Amino acid sequence: MTGYRIALIPGDGIGAEVLPPAQAVLAAVGRRHGIEFTYDSFDWSCERYLAEGAMMPSDGLDRIRHHDAVLLGAVGWPGVPDHVSLWGLLIPIRRGFRQYVNLRPVKVLDGVPSPLRGAGAGAVDLVVVRENVEGEYSEIGGRLGRGTEDELAVQEAVFTRKGVTRVVEYAYSLAETRRNHVTSATKSNGIVHTMPFWDELVEEVAGRHPEVRTGKEHIDALAAKLVLTPERFDVIVGSNLFGDILSDLAAAVAGSIGVAPSANLNPEREFPSMFEPVHGSAPDIAGQGKANPLGALWSAAMMLDHLGHPEASGELLAAAFGALDDGVSTVDLGGTADTAGYTRAVLDRMN
Ligand code: NAI
Ligand code: MG
Repeated sequence: MTGYRIALIPGDGIGAEVLPPAQAVLAAVGRRHGIEFTYDSFDWSCERYLAEGAMMPSDGLDRIRHHDAVLLGAVGWPGVPDHVSLWGLLIPIRRGFRQYVNLRPVKVLDGVPSPLRGAGAGAVDLVVVRENVEGEYSEIGGRLGRGTEDELAVQEAVFTRKGVTRVVEYAYSLAETRRNHVTSATKSNGIVHTMPFWDELVEEVAGRHPEVRTGKEHIDALAAKLVLTPERFDVIVGSNLFGDILSDLAAAVAGSIGVAPSANLNPEREFPSMFEPVHGSAPDIAGQGKANPLGALWSAAMMLDHLGHPEASGELLAAAFGALDDGVSTVDLGGTADTAGYTRAVLDRMN
């Protein structure tokens, strides 16, 4: 029996509704593979912020530093500004634990109609690798002359040789396990310092991976191509901002934000990695039991993979996709199942 201790952060809204299905499915697949999960649950959320003035306690990171992984639902709630929930919880974990790779696989699945006419099931299978700890999302900058006619704001982007190289290396190594194709998202025509630097570093890394084909696309053209010909892409690597936008776009191409998974990885494994569905807390449907848990289940499968259990991960995913194949799906996908009903269908397939 292999045991793992997981830090569970349900967060807000449907975050708390999609994690129990993930735990149930992990327990089922774990039984078949001799893997046991134990959980420590943390109430870090906007609810906590409103009650105690902070998303998490000041020693929050220390409390989860020694867990094998973090499984997160979603954070954010009306009444708490989104930058508070983001900078008070997610960003400190991503940066504190050096989770510099944000990995977002995107597939068009059977049973999940894409809004794109041409994107049939099986045709689109790509991964967005987003730089996750530096880039455009920096704390450097400020405001001057508040409220005056001359008011201004400055926001600095930070690109380091080390930070860019390691995430691009990750993308090329990942491509070698897939279809040997990397597309780099850039904007070196308009952003004249950081983006040419990004391009140079991509070229350096590409030189070390001669078998991988490299495509370089300006972010605006890339966004259009992702809509027009999504099947062309294998691994897309982008800065924090570009990767953020592209991964939501790609998730929309796949049919629903509710199915999209993500992993925040510390590839060196000095710290726990964090797994979370891409969607937010969905206040509009929270409390109604109809959230699609697939994004959370897929994130749990990515966690299994990261912990060294690719077979168990594959089984979990096959059951989750299989339930869709059987015609069981949640309301966001045009189906009639609720969260519990879809989860039952996945569990039935595994037993
Ligand atoms: P959202 O992802 O929560 O919802 C967007 C739309 O998609 C809503 O109509 C919602 O009902 C639907 N949806 C999302 N997930 C679904 C699921 N699993 N099943 C069925 N339908 C689903 O994004 P929104 O509305 O922009 O943000 C709501 C809150 O969540 C905000 O406070 C935001 O900051 C936060 N948020 C948090 C994220 C995180 O924790 N990583 C990511 C995105 C947003
Ligand atoms: Mg986003």
